[in-house]
Amino acid sequence: MSHIIVVIGAQWGDEGKGKIVDLLAERFDIVARYQGGHNAGHSVYVGDQSYVLHLIPSGITHRGKTCVLGNGMVIDPKAFFQEADRLIEQGLEVTPERVMVSSRAHLILPYHRALDHTSEERLGNERVGTTLRGIGPAYEDKAGRRGIRVADALVSDVLRSRIERNVEDANRIILAYGGQTLDVEQVFEETSSLVERLAPFIADTTHFLNRAAREGRSILIEGAQATLLDVDHGTYPFVTSSNTTAGGASIGTGLAPHRINGVLGIVRTYTTRVGEGPFPTEMIAGEAELGQLIRERGREYGASTGRPRRCGWFDAFATRYAAEINGFTSVALTKLDVLDALDEIKVCIGYNLDGRSLEYFPAVAQDLRRVEPVYETLSGWKTLTEGITQMDALPAAARRYIDFLSAQIGVGIGLVSTGPERAQTILVHDSPLGAWLKG
Ligand code: GDP
Ligand code: IMO
Ligand code: MG
Repeated sequence: MSHIIVVIGAQWGDEGKGKIVDLLAERFDIVARYQGGHNAGHSVYVGDQSYVLHLIPSGITHRGKTCVLGNGMVIDPKAFFQEADRLIEQGLEVTPERVMVSSRAHLILPYHRALDHTSEERLGNERVGTTLRGIGPAYEDKAGRRGIRVADALVSDVLRSRIERNVEDANRIILAYGGQTLDVEQVFEETSSLVERLAPFIADTTHFLNRAAREGRSILIEGAQATLLDVDHGTYPFVTSSNTTAGGASIGTGLAPHRINGVLGIVRTYTTRVGEGPFPTEMIAGEAELGQLIRERGREYGASTGRPRRCGWFDAFATRYAAEINGFTSVALTKLDVLDALDEIKVCIGYNLDGRSLEYFPAVAQDLRRVEPVYETLSGWKTLTEGITQMDALPAAARRYIDFLSAQIGVGIGLVSTGPERAQTILVHDSPLGAWLKG
């Protein structure tokens, strides 16, 4: 039986999905993305090289693996080639033989970026704090049946008429808010030449992935963003515009749900968030200095936008919700080493709202802003764990912290990450993840 495993961020993103996908990719034939676009920033360290992947799956670092940009993605062709060119300069093979772009994926074009800016300006204090990459407007066009799919763009007449209509509509909104309008001809010319360059990469990836699954090849599906940024299950409206959760993997690749054999949750030992929106365990006010310490130790600055990430304690209540929605069958716990300096570590085990303990993760952002986290405090270990590769080499307090998180989330830990590099990893052999890697 083929192995098809999905890797999902359990929090608000940047949990270390890139490192884990790069690490696991060696054992898989194909690595596929299924949603999002270049709003993602996945950092991967291999020896003295570092790569930041935005659109291209993190499996690209391994020779001979096929990388798929699935139908659920939104792809800015300009960003694709900027990324591809940089990776090629760094010595990676980004060729049509190795990288396939779904003919059903949607394009992000310059008017989407302009509309993202306009939308954020219009929202003022209620802005989402998007990456301004045009992600939301491209998904709006997709749902509104105005979008331009990669395959449509290959037909010049279709491309021209859709660009004419979409640029005209976008210009009306841009003009109303005092922005810089776009020129139809310029957008068409630029897009045509980019699509011409993209043509050799375009494929029916749904067919490719299903055939691979039938033939018993293994597929690692790489999530971007994370559970709490999911457009349905996340902290709406402070979310991204795609289904980041495990169900999205089926939609965004065309692989039927029953083909997926495992869901690996990537869980960071603390929490971060970039952009606006509620964050119950954020280290602010009296804890701001601690937040700054974590930010510096964990190098918590956005890989896409360079924005400082907001830092907070581990939120077991939110992560339990993530485990449920995604059906995590195993968890990779990342960035243990970042907590090495702390005397005490707090973990949020529940939320109180208006004096009552909540049973479910609240649906309304306003409620989430008002919840009071209930904390349990664990002792720190104050010893370096960076680079440790065996569970029994960890200090006892670190092992207690890991066991506590696992019990709180209700899922076994398959891997603990103790640094950004591949080798800085503890693999729990006696776990579903260990079994997938063996098999
Ligand atoms: P992603 O978006 O989920 O792929 O995560 P990012 O790459 O945006 O952010 C995670 C950052 O943490 C990257 O710079 C990783 O290299 C780094 N990282 C991953 N795992 C660890 C770890 O265990 N320890 C430390 N110190 N850094 C890590
Ligand atoms: P990775 O894959 C963290 C956030 C933005 C904003 C919201 C909507 O690296 O974990 P968008 O541009 O998607 O419309 O912005 O989502 N966001 C991320 N935050 N990591 C990411 O990706 C993110 N991608 C989007 O900051 O709050
Ligand atoms: Mg990231």
